[in-house]
Amino acid sequence: MSLLQKKSLSDLNVQGKKVIMRVDFNVPLDKDTGTIPDDTRIKAALPSIQYLLVHGAKLILVSHLGRPKGFDPAQSMAPAAKRLGELLGKEIILAKDVIGEDAKGKAALLKEGEILMLENVRYHKEETANDRSFAKELASLAEVYVNDAFGTSHRAHASTFGLAKFLPSAAGFLVQKELDVMVAALAAPERPFTAIIGGAKVSDKIGVLENLLDKVDNLLIGGAMAYTFYAAQGWETGTSPIEADKQEVALSILEKAKAKGVNLILPQDNVVSDDFAPGAASKIVPANQFDPAWMGMDIGPQTVANFASVIKNSRTVIWNGPMGVFEFPVFAEGTRKIAAAVAESGATSIIGGGDSASALEQLGYAE
Ligand code: 3PG
Repeated sequence: MSLLQKKSLSDLNVQGKKVIMRVDFNVPLDKDTGTIPDDTRIKAALPSIQYLLVHGAKLILVSHLGRPKGFDPAQSMAPAAKRLGELLGKEIILAKDVIGEDAKGKAALLKEGEILMLENVRYHKEETANDRSFAKELASLAEVYVNDAFGTSHRAHASTFGLAKFLPSAAGFLVQKELDVMVAALAAPERPFTAIIGGAKVSDKIGVLENLLDKVDNLLIGGAMAYTFYAAQGWETGTSPIEADKQEVALSILEKAKAKGVNLILPQDNVVSDDFAPGAASKIVPANQFDPAWMGMDIGPQTVANFASVIKNSRTVIWNGPMGVFEFPVFAEGTRKIAAAVAESGATSIIGGGDSASALEQLGYAE
């Protein structure tokens, strides 16, 4: 058992059984070549996959890729299946659908030690709706369920949450390892304890932010979500993407932080741009002096220095979400420097979220 007392893969008898395992193969795709520039997530699932094969399971893998609205061949699981096949040196059978005739037929014929990869589970809107009948159909393909999709487990979807209602279930080795590390680090964190939260939307992170207010000493907020906090205080945010309906939540988070004595820091300056494009004109402006026609793209140098000094003095750091539009190199500085500060801090650091992981990989800080 892991620290969380969840059942682990090794607690299950899988010999000769059809095991459906949720993995997070939501990998980046090079649209021109159809290849995968970063296969970290596929490699991360290998320990569970290999264990299941060695222990005689008939393995069915299910994952999402991107956020398709219905069937979309550009977001097929085929490249991920191909890459997995290369890593394992064995054929991966790819179903043409998720719960259709092809998947059912191929699942029925699956032999011990074989792997069937279902198509993108988000081709069905019932997946994100956590539809019970859809989860039941998926479950009918197998006898045992394993969740090893660490990067997706914060979502209550049919293939993460729903499936576990219908089959004997366990956490895969990746999920178990990540949870063990997190639980150990967060149960009694060495202080100062700092959380860095970025990314586009407050709405994605409300639960995380509120939860953190009871735990951390410092809460550093960057990325586009910071602009919703600005707007909530009546500041100009130009053409930055803000969530008007989350301003009240943002204000309440600011108030709670104050009441709990958490040092919540918003960016004091930002890199702004006149267009959402890599080559757009850019300049640095103080937080409350946005030009109405410009949008925020990254945290500014004063913010970087301030965040870095807080990080340097921290003993535990958790980070989720990039500080800016790091996909455009010119707006990646904030994320890159924060990554460097975390890497150099010597603090126990836990970095989560697909975007933060690819930012680290892209910027050379994966290790
Ligand atoms: C991720 O990349 O963060 C996970 O795969 C979850 O993807 P999602 O944000 O589209 O649910």
